Amino acid sequence: MTDLSAAYDAAVTDRVRLAGSAYSTDRDLAARQSLYRWQVPRYDLPGIVAEQLSGVRGRVVDIGCGNGKFIQRLRGERPDLALLGLDIAPGILASVPGPVAVADATRLPLATGSAHAALALHMLYHVPDIPQAVGELTRVVARDGVVIVSTNSDRDKVELDDLWQRAAGDVLGTGRGQARISLSARFSLEKAPAFLAEGFSRVEMIELPGTITVHDPEPVIAHMASYRAWADQHDVPFDATIARARSILLDHIAQHGAFEVTCLGGILVCRR
Ligand SMILES: C[S@@+](CC[C@H](N)C(=O)[O-])C[C@H]1O[C@@H](n2cnc3c(N)ncnc32)[C@H](O)[C@@H]1O
Repeated sequence: MTDLSAAYDAAVTDRVRLAGSAYSTDRDLAARQSLYRWQVPRYDLPGIVAEQLSGVRGRVVDIGCGNGKFIQRLRGERPDLALLGLDIAPGILASVPGPVAVADATRLPLATGSAHAALALHMLYHVPDIPQAVGELTRVVARDGVVIVSTNSDRDKVELDDLWQRAAGDVLGTGRGQARISLSARFSLEKAPAFLAEGFSRVEMIELPGTITVHDPEPVIAHMASYRAWADQHDVPFDATIARARSILLDHIAQHGAFEVTCLGGILVCRR
């Protein structure tokens, strides 16, 4: 039997796949970010990050900044900060207001102690050597600085995992299909504190629970389809599984009036 979790770990951290496909543009990331529009309560994540940075002056580096959602907000609210966006995917950086640079979280092009804060938001699970990246965060941030990390719980959006397995099972005619790849499993909210404790003596977790309720399948389908860069990891045709998921959702919504997804994300505020 193949070791599914080892194969998934390799695929989630595969730099060619990340830079060349998953994050070559912000299409798939934006689809995942958009689903939270239907979440109650709604959390203003850039606002929470801005609040955590209220006492920070000087340089703030956003590592794995993606489409710049946090950088754009901070540029408006905190013009006093010297913001720098870094990412391994050149394509996704194209629309982010500079300065930005292509760089790897495990080899940051920054001098020791040169940043007053660092953000590593929903990205450490993509890094092959997480302890090495935590080491880099502690190296580049000044001793009295702050590092803000985010990720999702192992229990986040379980209804989407279930929907995938039902749809895949229907396509294959096997009842239930193989589990879908999880992006955050390697550095989930449950695992993150132990990784971060290696570099930081104080790690405060802010949990962000919520429920997404949709009355139309499309936002959920767009989220599910945003995993297309990992389509080859599953033993079932991707597009057929998405199409089957759409009809399961339509039936569910016709019967119950809505489809609900439970969410649990979190922010970890780390200090030395
Ligand atoms: C899920 S997105 C998160 C984007 C943004 N931080 C946010 O929270 O909206 C993950 C980002 O991390 C980047 N990334 C993945 N591995 C990386 C690495 N080793 N070093 C730097 N960036 C990386 C990806 O290219 C992608 O843009």
